[in-house]
Amino acid sequence: MPGDSHLPKALQGLRIPAVASPLFIISVPALVIAQCKAGVIGSFPALNARESEGEAPLLEAWLKEITEELDRHNQANPDSPAAPYAVNQIVHRSNTRLDRDLEICAKHEVPIWITSLGARVEVNDAAHSCGGIALHDIINNRFAKKAIEKGADGLIAVAAGAGGHAGPQSPLALISEIREWFDGPLLLSGSIATGNSLLAALAMGADLGYIGSPFIATEEANADQGYKDMIVSSGAEDIVYSSLFTGVSGNYLKGSVENAGMDPDNLPEGDVSTMSFGDKREKPKAWKTIWGSGQGIGAVKDVVPAAEVVSRIEREYHAAFARLKDRMT
Ligand SMILES: Cc1cc2nc3c(=O)[nH]c(=O)nc-3n(C[C@H](O)[C@H](O)[C@H](O)COP(=O)(O)O)c2cc1C
Repeated sequence: MPGDSHLPKALQGLRIPAVASPLFIISVPALVIAQCKAGVIGSFPALNARESEGEAPLLEAWLKEITEELDRHNQANPDSPAAPYAVNQIVHRSNTRLDRDLEICAKHEVPIWITSLGARVEVNDAAHSCGGIALHDIINNRFAKKAIEKGADGLIAVAAGAGGHAGPQSPLALISEIREWFDGPLLLSGSIATGNSLLAALAMGADLGYIGSPFIATEEANADQGYKDMIVSSGAEDIVYSSLFTGVSGNYLKGSVENAGMDPDNLPEGDVSTMSFGDKREKPKAWKTIWGSGQGIGAVKDVVPAAEVVSRIEREYHAAFARLKDRMT
């Protein structure tokens, strides 16, 4: 990718400037491998790899599968190597596996570490111990400053309209405020589902787009067919922003809330103290039956292989660039 030499090596050379973001339950090795082979950074939450009690850590098996398959691809396709992959750590007190997962990721030299819900020095140190970089997601400028103080290498600005836990701020405001003091790697999350939006993210000052919901409606995604179909048939007005399901505000498909017997337009507030990522989650409904999605899904017209999502966005991105260039010269 031209113009990316200011970025850390792991973020350079992508087919389009984008990271396929980690999706709870949905991101599994088949999806991550397809995203990386298609030329964007693929990712998954470490917590998606859940073994039964007494079994060997599934996270190790997933890391082995992903690295071996990407190595095979790179040997067979030296001219179009796969993008690197990222692992997401949920840095929340209810994640009782965190220390173990950090150790496994350091051992396997994970190149990109994405941290959510808490900035901690020791997590960034673990990433750096194996030559990795740490990107932390934030919803406002204050958290962004805190994340960099704690040693993150880059930031993911999660703006209004993002799928899953999302901030309330306009991406225009959030990126501008962060760019006043931060010139390191900055990713934008929230409703980027077209090449036009991806180019807009770069015009705003972001280095890369962070794309989640369009990858739910892919063949490789670990999601119910009904969920994939609802992504295809829904648009921005079918999304509700609510804190009820996890205690933290996020965006969900109204149709899934209705299917669960609730009125999406009259939801009570959630309670942040009940948020749990441990094995004894009290609210199994969130994510499994209440389906997360960002507002950008009007662009998703079909369930397709992940590589097709990347190809479509790439085509649109170059067309948008050519159109703007024409207008500005
Ligand atoms: C169903 C779903 C699950 C998600 N799970 C996670 C997660 O486990 N960890 C995380 O850091 N972000 C998670 N996110 C947030 C995404 O990584 C990303 O910020 C968001 O999807 C970007 O917005 P978009 O969906 O509009 O593209 C999730 C989003 C969705 C839609």
